[in-house]
Amino acid sequence: MKVLVDRRDGLTALADASASAVFERSEKSEGFPHSLEAEDRATKGLVRAAWERREVRGRKADPANPHVGAELTVVHRPDGRGRLVLVGLGPREQFQAESVRRAAASVVKGLKGRGARTLAFRLSSFVGDGVSAEAAARALTDGAVLGAYEFSKYQTKTEGGVEEVTIALGEELAREEAGVKKAVAEEYDLAETVVWTREVANLPADTATPERLAEEARALGKEFGLKVTVFDEKKLAEMRCGGILAVGMGSVHPPRLIVLEYPGGSKRGRTVAIVGKGITFDSGGISLKPGLAMSNMKFDKSGAVAVLGILRAAATLKVPPRVVGVLCCAENLPSGTAYRPGDVVRTYNGKTIEVLNTDAEGRVVLADGLGYAVAHYRPDEVIDLATLTGAEVVALGDDTAGLVTTDNALAQGLLAASAATGEPLWRMPLSDYHRELVKSEVADVRNSIEITVAGMLTAAAFLETFVGSTPWAHLDIAGPAYTTKETRKYQPPYQNLGAVGFGVRLVTRYLIDSARS
Ligand code: BES
Ligand code: MN
Ligand code: ZN
Repeated sequence: MKVLVDRRDGLTALADASASAVFERSEKSEGFPHSLEAEDRATKGLVRAAWERREVRGRKADPANPHVGAELTVVHRPDGRGRLVLVGLGPREQFQAESVRRAAASVVKGLKGRGARTLAFRLSSFVGDGVSAEAAARALTDGAVLGAYEFSKYQTKTEGGVEEVTIALGEELAREEAGVKKAVAEEYDLAETVVWTREVANLPADTATPERLAEEARALGKEFGLKVTVFDEKKLAEMRCGGILAVGMGSVHPPRLIVLEYPGGSKRGRTVAIVGKGITFDSGGISLKPGLAMSNMKFDKSGAVAVLGILRAAATLKVPPRVVGVLCCAENLPSGTAYRPGDVVRTYNGKTIEVLNTDAEGRVVLADGLGYAVAHYRPDEVIDLATLTGAEVVALGDDTAGLVTTDNALAQGLLAASAATGEPLWRMPLSDYHRELVKSEVADVRNSIEITVAGMLTAAAFLETFVGSTPWAHLDIAGPAYTTKETRKYQPPYQNLGAVGFGVRLVTRYLIDSARS
């Protein structure tokens, strides 16, 4: 998908289709909106007719078409110069950048397979209270690029869709050209990186082995000038990374610890380490999961793949801080060589783990990755991303990630980034109660607890042991990392079936904005 910015107004037949936004009309029949007069002229009165017959309601969700999202009304131009799409933004009082993101995705999805290759958005119709031209243009870019993405690698037949989007400024916004162009260029790079991330995260476990993730990292290193180090099972044994080794032991695909370094855009910048859980398949191991619970476990690498995406975005956008990415990759399978309940493993920093449940494997691999990141790079901050617990999904649902940190500045920065990118995040508490629960009788910590209480938070308390006093934030992305056939219809239209790429825009935005303040 290409995204261009043009000074013309979008109705000047720049494209096969043009799209304009409409706010939801109120109960009392409202007069024809001023903002649609140009559209009405271009269609010789057809837009007004559709409005008057109440065909256009401006709803942000069309119950008849949940996968598409917002309400769309398609009007053909009598002059034969393509079609005009009116897209609902929902109520004016609730208007925000997210409304635009969803509207853009809805239009792109609604046009899929319907003969429109090029599409122009009339930018001025997407600008409103609290959403500037730049913010609207960013959201249109996000929505269009992410909304168009589908995982089709293994499909022999695919439907063509919109390939080129033009953000049309028109006379009203011509002054904003430079700012809009800059914003769109940045957001386009980000959105393309999210697409790249989704494509890797969607790969099935037979293909996306730990070594394959290492290859992806090396390829990124080459393309974007990152330093990449891959520790294989021999090296991991020398380093005494007993956690990653134990989890990976049951699989023929050996584990990998993958490190990427981006030097930073400013000289005296701080160092941020980003650590990701990269379980290429989580069967549960000897503590085997029941069949249905296993069906989406190729997505258990989503945290690690998001780290690849964040490093790719950091290098592309030249974010100010130095960024170190650490991916903890292993496949969790049961076999004669698998680790077992009762085993005690020694991790990189010397701390020991009593394994009580081989299905609580994420925290075991992260123990090595966090320990290594902190000891080796002495970062100013550590952020980890992990599809860590089913408890997170129960607590916060399929759309929201859990944030656990004792550092208020980090929390504030990440929550602000979440508000800006529309990736929902909710802070959860961490107390001595949770710390007490993860203590072990035979080792320093245990990886599971006999009572099911606060599963997301005991997992976080476990991780904290391996970070020490470095400011640290944990993002449990078990819920929002992917969508399924069942959950997709409740998700924003820019998220299609499968990997979401959750965290890439969020953490990258944080890296950019936290350096400013
Ligand atoms: N990968 C799972 C968590 C998960 C569940 C992610 C559902 C996405 C959707 C993780 O490794 C796991 O199995 N966690 C266990 C921990 C328990 C055994 C302490 C869980 O949450 O049930
Ligand atoms: Mn598990
Ligand atoms: Zn897992």
